[in-house]
Amino acid sequence: MDALRRTGNKVILSLELMLNRGFPERLNPFYHLGSLTFFFFWIVLISGIYIFIFFETNVAGAYPSVEYMTHQQWWMAGIMRSLHRYASDAAVISIFIHMFREFFRDRYRGVRWFSWFTGVPTLWLVVILGITGYWLVWDQLAQYVALATAELVDWIPLIPSAMVFNFLDNQITDRFFTLMAFLHLLGLPVALVFLLWTHVSRISQIDFNPPRALAIGSFLTLLALSLVKPAVSHAPVQAGHSPVILHLDWFYLNVYPLVDTLGPGWAWGISGGFTLLLMMLPWLPSKKENHPARVDLTQCSGCGQCALDCPYGSISMQPRTDGKKAKFEPTVNDTLCTACGICSGSCVSSSPLRMSNATLKSGIEMPWFTVDALRQEVKHKLAALSGTGRVIVFGCEHGLDVNSLKAPEVAVVSLPCSGMLPPSMLDYVLKNGADGVLVSGCRDGDCYHRFGNTWTEQRLTGEREPKLLTRVDRTRVTEFRVSNSRGERDEMGKRLEAFRRSLQPTA
Ligand code: HEM
Repeated sequence: MDALRRTGNKVILSLELMLNRGFPERLNPFYHLGSLTFFFFWIVLISGIYIFIFFETNVAGAYPSVEYMTHQQWWMAGIMRSLHRYASDAAVISIFIHMFREFFRDRYRGVRWFSWFTGVPTLWLVVILGITGYWLVWDQLAQYVALATAELVDWIPLIPSAMVFNFLDNQITDRFFTLMAFLHLLGLPVALVFLLWTHVSRISQIDFNPPRALAIGSFLTLLALSLVKPAVSHAPVQAGHSPVILHLDWFYLNVYPLVDTLGPGWAWGISGGFTLLLMMLPWLPSKKENHPARVDLTQCSGCGQCALDCPYGSISMQPRTDGKKAKFEPTVNDTLCTACGICSGSCVSSSPLRMSNATLKSGIEMPWFTVDALRQEVKHKLAALSGTGRVIVFGCEHGLDVNSLKAPEVAVVSLPCSGMLPPSMLDYVLKNGADGVLVSGCRDGDCYHRFGNTWTEQRLTGEREPKLLTRVDRTRVTEFRVSNSRGERDEMGKRLEAFRRSLQPTA
C-alpha cells in the first residue's frame, strides 16, 4: 500500500509541477479540487433550473422539449443544456482526482478517516444523478440506460417482476417518468447536499469557492466547449427496437458496458467491491497512529490563538477550570486532532527565549515533539555549524526533504508542519550563531495540514499572532516553499546558495 501511495504521489506531483508552469501557483486547479467541484455544482444547478423551464416531464413531451432547446433556442437553452452536461462531467473528473490525490498524499487515514469514508457515497449519488439525467432526455441512449438499469435491478432477487420488458416495449408510464424527474431534480440533489455537509463537517474554515480567476477560467472553458461541441440527443425511442448507442458518456455511464459484456452480477460485484475497498482503505495496513496535542494550563494564557489556527476545529475554548484570571482554556478533541503541531507554533509560550535554564514548556504542544525537544535539537545543530553564511533551514515533512540540503554551514530541522515553528524561534537562532534562517514548507495553496504555510507566512509578515518581532533583521530571513521533486530540490539548492551569499556574518 505504501509503495502504491509513493508511486501515485510522484505521478500527482509531476502533474502538479507541469500545471505550476502554466498557472500561477495559487491558481493550480489541483490545489482547489474540492472547491472546484462545488463550483461545477453551481453551474449544474443554475443551468438545470433554466432548462427545467422548457422541459416537459412526461414521456411524450420530454424528447421534443429537449430538441426545442437544442435547436430552436440553441443560443440560450441549448448553451445551458451543454453547460449542464459539461459541468457535470467536469465535476466527476475533479471528484476522482480529488479522491486519488487525498489517497496518494496520505490524507485519508487516522483522524481523517471520516472525510474519506463520507466522501465515498458521494460517488454513487453523483453517478446516479447523472444516470437519471440521461434518462430524462428519453432518446435511444435513455432507453439503453433504462434497459441496462432494469437488467441490474432485475438481478436483485428481492425485486418480484422483470422490468426489462417495460422499457423494451416503451411501456414506460408518465408516473414512472415523474419519479425519475423527482429523483433527478430534488431527491438526489438534497441527499447530496446533506452528504457533502457531513463530508466537510470535521474540517474548519473551508473555502467553498475556488479563486476567482480559476472559477472564471473554468467557466469560460466550459462555455467554449458548449459553443464548439453542443450537447445533442440521440435518435428518439422506437418501440420494440433495441437502441443503437453511438456515444456513451464514460464519466457517468461506465457501468453499462460492464452489464453488456459481463452481465449484471459482475457489474454489481465490481462496483460494490470497489466501493467497499474504498471505504475500508483507512483501516487497511499500515494503520496510522495518532498522538494528539496536550494542553498545559500552567503555561496557558487563554488567548485562544490555538483554537483560531487549528485547521480541523479540534480545539475549543471552554470556561477555565484552574481558577486563573483568564476566562477560557483550550480543550483538544482527540478524534479531530491530526497532530500537525500548528497549535504549538501559535502559542506565545512556545517561545524558546523563555525558561532558558529550565525545561521549556508551552501552553499547548505535541507530547512526542515538545517545544523543549525542538529547542534542544536547534541548539545542538547551531553548535555544530561551521564556516561562513551559516544557515538553519526549517522544513516540513510533507514538502521538500530538507535533509538533502545538509552541509557544514547548513543545519536542517524537519517539522511535522511548518506551522509548528514559533516565530520567536527565528529570533532565537539568529541570536545563537546562525547568520540566516530559511523557512520551507509545502507549496503555496497546497499545505498538507491546510494552513501551516499560510499561518507561518502571516506570522512572519506580522499579519497574524504570534508575530515575528520587529527587531529581527528581515534580510536574514527567507521563505521558499517547494515540493519534494528532484527539479525543485535543485531549485531550492540554488536559492539556498544565493541566500547564503547574500548574508554578511553577524557581529
Ligand atoms: C461531491 C464530491 C466532493 C466534494 C464537493 C468534496 C469537497 C471537499 C472539500 C471542499 C474538502 C475540504 C478541502 C480543504 O478545504 O482542505 C474536502 C476534503 C476531503 N475530501 Fe472531499 N469532496 C468530494 C468527494 C470526495 C471523495 C469521493 C473522497 C474520497 C473518497 C473525498 C475525500 C476527502 C478527504 C479525505 C478530505 C479531507 C482532507 C483533509 O483532511 O485535509 N472527497 N472535500
